[in-house]
Amino acid sequence: MSLAILSSRLGKHQATLEYQWMKRAISPLSLEKMLARRIAGEPLQYILGEQPFGPLTIKLRPPVLIPRPETEHWTIRLAELLRPLPAPLSILDLGTGTGCIPLLICHLLPAGTVRSHGVDISSDAVKLANENAAHCGFSTSSSDTGRNTFRTIQASFLDPLFPHAHLNVSPPFDLVTSNPPYISWPEYIQLPPSVADYEDPKALFGGPDGLDFYHAIAALVARKGFLSPGAIVAVEVGDGQAHRVQEIFQAAAQMRTEIWLDPWKKKRTVVVKPGI
Ligand SMILES: C[S@@+](CC[C@H](N)C(=O)[O-])C[C@H]1O[C@@H](n2cnc3c(N)ncnc32)[C@H](O)[C@@H]1O
Repeated sequence: MSLAILSSRLGKHQATLEYQWMKRAISPLSLEKMLARRIAGEPLQYILGEQPFGPLTIKLRPPVLIPRPETEHWTIRLAELLRPLPAPLSILDLGTGTGCIPLLICHLLPAGTVRSHGVDISSDAVKLANENAAHCGFSTSSSDTGRNTFRTIQASFLDPLFPHAHLNVSPPFDLVTSNPPYISWPEYIQLPPSVADYEDPKALFGGPDGLDFYHAIAALVARKGFLSPGAIVAVEVGDGQAHRVQEIFQAAAQMRTEIWLDPWKKKRTVVVKPGI
């Protein structure tokens, strides 16, 4: 009966696929409970409690943002750009959510070459990102030199004093990544219920024009000593924002920028190489 209702919502093909995934899931939830939540409109990834991200399986719980395929795409491309490596590579991910971006970089680069930190304002995200570090086989202790490391701390990178000394996250960084909240107000009020009712508004809303966080990140990376020589900054952008984000970084400092397309040919990532 539940499968028939799901088919009427999603179409027979999609409903059958999802039914099989729910049946195979190792979950404390019964199949009936999973189907009921899916019929109510909850994203499948939250019901399954995990999401593939490249070769990794990332643990997931509402309201932490569900990693998107476009983020996976630019993260893989970025990891390819990072060779040869200054070892160890010091990475800071601003607004880390599940930790998917630094975790995939940790996975793609040789063991012992990455020291990465995530920052998130949400305690749900911080807890999940640290669980994901262990789940994906990385150490949360930056003194573990044999393995790549990833540790997430709770803080706001909008705070003018970020990063406070007590956070134990010290510049300079060789790579700064971010997929910040970038939904503008007009877009926010039109989000489908599958997003607006489940994903954290703090993960989505980027201010009236969606650009608040880019101004903050550009000011941060333009600070003296924040980046190491030759460092790279990579930020994901929303549809139609790439050129305005380029201008923000160019205005904050002398920064060379390029735009990367996602698999659907949308301008998705602004890559910044400061000081050139
Ligand atoms: C769009 S989500 C990206 C999550 C993850 N990086 C990804 O790509 O799936 C943005 C993240 O930024 C976090 N965030 C929002 N405001 C923040 C702030 N002021 N300081 C730190 N993190 C913040 C949210 O909690 C959320 O996890």
